[in-house]
Amino acid sequence: MNAINTTSLEPTTGPVGKKLAGRVALVTGGTRGIGAAICRSLASQGASIAAGYSGNRDRAEQFLKEFDRDFEGRATIHQGNVSHPEDCHRVVREALAEHGRIDILVNNAGITMDKMAMKMSVEEWNTVLAVNLSGSFYMAQPALEHMVERGTGRIIFVSSVIGETGNIGQANYAASKAGMLGLTKTLAKEAAFILARAGKRADDSVGITVNTVTPGFVATEMLENVPEKVLDKITAQIPVGRLCRPEEIARVVHFLAADASAYITGQVWGVNGGMDM
Ligand code: CAA
Repeated sequence: MNAINTTSLEPTTGPVGKKLAGRVALVTGGTRGIGAAICRSLASQGASIAAGYSGNRDRAEQFLKEFDRDFEGRATIHQGNVSHPEDCHRVVREALAEHGRIDILVNNAGITMDKMAMKMSVEEWNTVLAVNLSGSFYMAQPALEHMVERGTGRIIFVSSVIGETGNIGQANYAASKAGMLGLTKTLAKEAAFILARAGKRADDSVGITVNTVTPGFVATEMLENVPEKVLDKITAQIPVGRLCRPEEIARVVHFLAADASAYITGQVWGVNGGMDM
């Protein structure tokens, strides 16, 4: 384990705007790391939050307690494993029951199991693909159905620069994150097509958009397993010269979630300190 500082440098501590007032966001992996920063950022613009988590109930309750201090009563937490389609459908139902609607889905839950490809087991391959890629699909399916019925919605995937560049030791992760790019573009096309066919597309409508953010190396617990010498090598290759802060991903997510971003769909938003140049 390396000595990475995962403490947020600029936590969003309270309401700052109303761009998302009355909106409800479901954020998978929403109780820590990038996901928690996304929840706080969306809430700072007025959204209510359904935050998903997989295993660590204590951490999820801790998140809720801290969140409530700044945005009282505006979040619920929902346990589920995104690699299980039945959990995804249940979590969407729970969020709808608690909040009445889902305007924004952020597919953020993700895992790594790093190993050189020649040493990677079939299980390590399948598990990472199941959580990162299949999980995104399982969540998007019921959320999209709800959004199509209402005629509006935002789906935002949190992929990775690794899906665009590849990385030593990450065949499973890179493939899963690259898969999310194709999923984004397909769902973006289908959503626009279905809305048009249903007569729900208007020039001034909020519509349904589907986009992806591709973070670079973000200072979260996920980086703690990267050997220090490797992390030093990686950091030396980032033009901006430092790791990314979770808030720097969150601000792009809340920009894409806004009604005014209706003309942006099927796009990949790199937030990587210039790593892919
Ligand atoms: N870039 C450059 N060199 C790398 C590298 C990388 N990404 N990964 C490994 N290397 C180098 C090592 O520095 C080492 O070089 P030297 O022999 O010159 O010291 C060599 O490859 C072998 O590395 P290890 O000694 O660590 O070999 P290993 O077989 O024990 O482990 C490994 C291999 C599993 C790939 C391990 O190196 C590792 O965990 N690497 C980190 C992988 C990584 O970058 N993960 C990112 C996780 S965060 C994330 O995924 C979020 C996101 O979206 C960015």
